[in-house]
Amino acid sequence: MKKILISGGLGYIGSHTVVELIDRNYDVTIIDDLSNSEEKVLDGIESICGQRPEWIDLDLSDKSKSDDYLKNQNFDGIIHFAAFKAVGESVENPLKYYRNNLFSLLNVMSYLETHKN
Ligand SMILES: NC(=O)c1ccc[n+]([C@@H]2O[C@H](COP(=O)([O-])OP(=O)(O)OC[C@H]3O[C@@H](n4cnc5c(N)ncnc54)[C@H](O)[C@@H]3O)[C@@H](O)[C@H]2O)c1
Repeated sequence: MKKILISGGLGYIGSHTVVELIDRNYDVTIIDDLSNSEEKVLDGIESICGQRPEWIDLDLSDKSKSDDYLKNQNFDGIIHFAAFKAVGESVENPLKYYRNNLFSLLNVMSYLETHKN
């Protein structure tokens, strides 16, 4: 069974992706810090799929915490949805968006760089 990490997997697009992957027999792990979602989304996923995916409450923009978790993992694939996306707020506070979206992406890419299968 392929092991897939869905970052931002409790968000809008991520949670639908999780349901589709579980239905196709993937072993799904979610990383989500609930910055724009709620833990109860897991209940919805469980009621649709009949199983509750593993959820890691982690801010992926935090390099040290991300490395600590990711270094021991062996994912076959990652789909990266963890990001801020509100256009208005991104114009008012661009650094908040750069920090979250770029640092999170770079931390995921660092993992990929050191875990080439
Ligand atoms: N919604 C759309 O129509 C749409 C269309 C095209 C592209 N996208 C892109 O897809 C991605 C996801 O969009 P969405 O609509 O599902 O957004 P969303 O806000 O519903 O989901 C994003 C999830 O990521 C989590 N998250 C954010 N920063 C995080 C961090 N640092 N660490 C861990 N978790 C974090 C949030 O808690 C949330 O659950 C975004 O990059 C967005 O720009 C969305």
